[in-house]
Amino acid sequence: MATAREYLELFYAENPGAGSMRSRLREVRAEIERTGTYTHTLDELTFGARAAWRNSGRCIGRLYWHSLRVRDRRRVSTAEGVAVECVNHLRAAVSGRRIRPTITVFAPDRPGAPGPRIWNEQLIRYAGYQMDDGSVVGDPRYAGFTTMARELGWRGGPGTPFDVLPLVISMGDGAPPLLCGVPGDAVLEVPLSHPRYPWFERLGLRWHAVPAISSMCLEIGGICYRAAPFNGWYMGTEIGARNLADPDRYNLMPVIAAHLGLDTRDDRSLWRDRALVELNLAVLHSFDRAGVTVTDHHTESRRFLVHLEREERAGRVCPADWSWIVPPISASATPVFHRYYDDVELSPNFAYHPGSVERALGRRSVTGG
Ligand code: ARG
Repeated sequence: MATAREYLELFYAENPGAGSMRSRLREVRAEIERTGTYTHTLDELTFGARAAWRNSGRCIGRLYWHSLRVRDRRRVSTAEGVAVECVNHLRAAVSGRRIRPTITVFAPDRPGAPGPRIWNEQLIRYAGYQMDDGSVVGDPRYAGFTTMARELGWRGGPGTPFDVLPLVISMGDGAPPLLCGVPGDAVLEVPLSHPRYPWFERLGLRWHAVPAISSMCLEIGGICYRAAPFNGWYMGTEIGARNLADPDRYNLMPVIAAHLGLDTRDDRSLWRDRALVELNLAVLHSFDRAGVTVTDHHTESRRFLVHLEREERAGRVCPADWSWIVPPISASATPVFHRYYDDVELSPNFAYHPGSVERALGRRSVTGG
């Protein structure tokens, strides 16, 4: 009740047209006494999801927090229904080739009636197939998840480095999960090429256009929406400087450096740095060429400081975690590097409830390689 009240105070302070807080508080108190929980109105849910984004200290892209589209799917009551709505989310998040920040909210946990769980970290991720020689084909981050999916009955994809994993969904933590392939037409992907190097396209690289995080809990006023997948659009560095570059992901820096003819035995040839720049250039070039929404770290850094200023002018603190806000390449060439931030925890927010999926699986890590 205390957490609900705190949220309603925020909601009514920022939504002056919403009417009387006192009568709403009475209603919420009565519902909690009767049922052990309470139900957000659509306006409370919508504002709560937007405020959770606004309060996400790790996200550089919050300038447009107010435009988040909220899909209320709290009445979907089966794993099949959740899978269908996850696929519909991917379709709704893309209009032509433009990406719209979108969240789909499924039923929260209620006393005696747990809501759905999406076991995937994101709605679209690539499988990582563990080979006998210890190497991994695909994304090593999801080798554990891939093995688990196969043990649960997934036949596996064609075996390329970019096979989309199935959705794994259960009602509550203990229940056996449903596996559901994501139809190809719901997965917008961009093949990667470089503006100057024809060999780059022949590497056969690609990435999906929509990052849709599905493993975080949306917390609003004491209510836990454990299944609430949300997406924005990509910043190029997430793909070019992390997913495709990290040594424990696709580890492409040595491959690119070799094609560039750089001396990879000498750290001081800066072959890693030069390979990173070309890879990131290719990511931005390819998304632009395909007409798919993407941002770059210079633009997004500037936008973030605009957002920060707006928040301060509105009399709010803007929580920000320097180590996440600063981009992974060319940090000091962006304005977000040259200052510190308030890193406070505000509510509503997105949170991890670690262990629920692992517990269901008998403690095996599902995201580790
Ligand atoms: N970094 C994650 C990835 O590469 C996605 C995180 C969310 N990113 C975003 N632009 N909304 O898949």
